[in-house]
Amino acid sequence: MSKKEVMKAVADEVKACRKCKLGETRTNAVPGEGSLDATILLIGEAPGYWEDVKGRPFVGAAGKLLDTLLSETNLSRSTVYITNVVKCRPPKNRAPSPIEVETCTPYLKRQIKTVQPEIIVTLGRHATSYVFSKSGIKEAAGITKLRGKIYSVKLFGLPVSVLPTFHPAAVLHNAKYKDPLKHDFQLLKTLVAKSQQGH
Ligand code: SF4
Ligand code: URA
Repeated sequence: MSKKEVMKAVADEVKACRKCKLGETRTNAVPGEGSLDATILLIGEAPGYWEDVKGRPFVGAAGKLLDTLLSETNLSRSTVYITNVVKCRPPKNRAPSPIEVETCTPYLKRQIKTVQPEIIVTLGRHATSYVFSKSGIKEAAGITKLRGKIYSVKLFGLPVSVLPTFHPAAVLHNAKYKDPLKHDFQLLKTLVAKSQQGH
């Protein structure tokens, strides 16, 4: 199967999925979108209100901020791949439960293995925990300590640079996260420049 066929199969399964109880309350599942040949894959937490309405990732207020951060990094949505740890909106935007994460992340794993990104940006605690646990890293600290550094890991057999940062939605609740988030996207910019030199 081509990349396109695999990603279409994953998206079709996600849209029909009822494997956890988030499937009962969602309006639309949100598989993810972007370039299947992306160097950079960004992982959020879960769809929110507008994502659930539209079936697309990061289209609400946090998405606007993400678009700004990407454009400041000279990146656009069409050149990256964007998805979430869980594909259906948790009621009232609560955090996904461990069992929901466990049930849903085989989809994310297939997406990562298909896109084969060189760089993974984990937006917030949930995405960071997932990627670290699958890379065999024991995270001894929270996102505030882990963020803003690049971790060279092996994820599903692939060498990747992982950059954990705050979730863009955090900035909407507290402006103090804005500068660190901008800083981390500038770091992403240097990482992208390095990766381009390597080709
Ligand atoms: Fe299926 Fe994931 Fe949606 Fe749960 S959150 S119903 S596992 S797609
Ligand atoms: N927050 C997320 O984590 N993901 C989205 O798609 C939107 C908001």
